[in-house]
Amino acid sequence: KKKLLIDVDPGVDDAQAIMVALAAPNVEILGITCCHGNTPLENVCKNTLRILKVCNRLDIPVYRGCAAPLLARKIHASDFHGKDGLGDAPDPDAPGLELLQEEGAVMAMIRTVKENPGEVILVATAPLTNLAVAVKLDPTFPEKLKGLYIMGGNTDSRGNTTVCGEFNFVADPEAAYIVLNQYHCPTYIAPWEFSCRNALPWSFCDTWLAQKTEKARFMEKIFHYTRKVSQTEENIKEMEGNSGFNSCDTYAMAAAIDDTFVTESEEVAVTVELEGRYTRGMMVLDPVEMLKKQHKVNIMKTVDLEKLKKMLMDSLK
Ligand code: BDR
Ligand code: CA
Repeated sequence: KKKLLIDVDPGVDDAQAIMVALAAPNVEILGITCCHGNTPLENVCKNTLRILKVCNRLDIPVYRGCAAPLLARKIHASDFHGKDGLGDAPDPDAPGLELLQEEGAVMAMIRTVKENPGEVILVATAPLTNLAVAVKLDPTFPEKLKGLYIMGGNTDSRGNTTVCGEFNFVADPEAAYIVLNQYHCPTYIAPWEFSCRNALPWSFCDTWLAQKTEKARFMEKIFHYTRKVSQTEENIKEMEGNSGFNSCDTYAMAAAIDDTFVTESEEVAVTVELEGRYTRGMMVLDPVEMLKKQHKVNIMKTVDLEKLKKMLMDSLK
């Protein structure tokens, strides 16, 4: 089985990604680490536990991570995911935070990878703060990973949070910079524009949610708000005019689960802009190799959408 460590900020699409991983028969989840992002850290932790409860998987350890970015001002995405991060559809019986592990997220990441050298696949669908702190605490952390899958950044300077910036990178540009420059392990990136271009039709979403299960009812409830916002003119513009069901984080997760999911990718050196007035947090690609970087990442371009549909369908069964 593939051994996954998942770093998240649920977030509705994080919830979708987590549920896809939970349903994958070839995956063992070693732990879930929480990071500030779509909503404040306390909500992120609560939401993660809620998701695990619905899936009957509270046995998976959940760790509390960084509550703020390294240097940037804290931002959240409540206008897209709701104030509580899961569509403001609260659950009165949500599990309490006492279920979190004592150990902090970054220490847990370092320990887990040390215990399974060369075996752990890290999937990061939040701002990269925990990952940046991990490499500062243990510079050998990245080389012990089997692979790193990131949802974040952009390829065509089209932003969803600033003019040129994607949320996870803008929410902690310094962390994204550290990760892209210091993680010299096999790295796969699902950038914003890529997931927009590979969005699923809304008709699939209806079929997906029509499954008569508790998980489908939960998803319907937490997705209601985000789904509505996704179909506003402003959001359709952000998605290059391509209205559709764009579960960004799930693309990174699907790629980690199934090596044949990505059908085309570009191998290129990348970094992150830290200073521009309009461009801070933007991912910068270096196809001409002017930066003389040794390490290249794989930027996802096209995928097998039928495989994604199957994984999503299975996740609500
Ligand atoms: C990313 O930002 C968050 O709002 C989503 O969960 C996703 O990780 C998309 O830009
Ligand atoms: Ca996310």
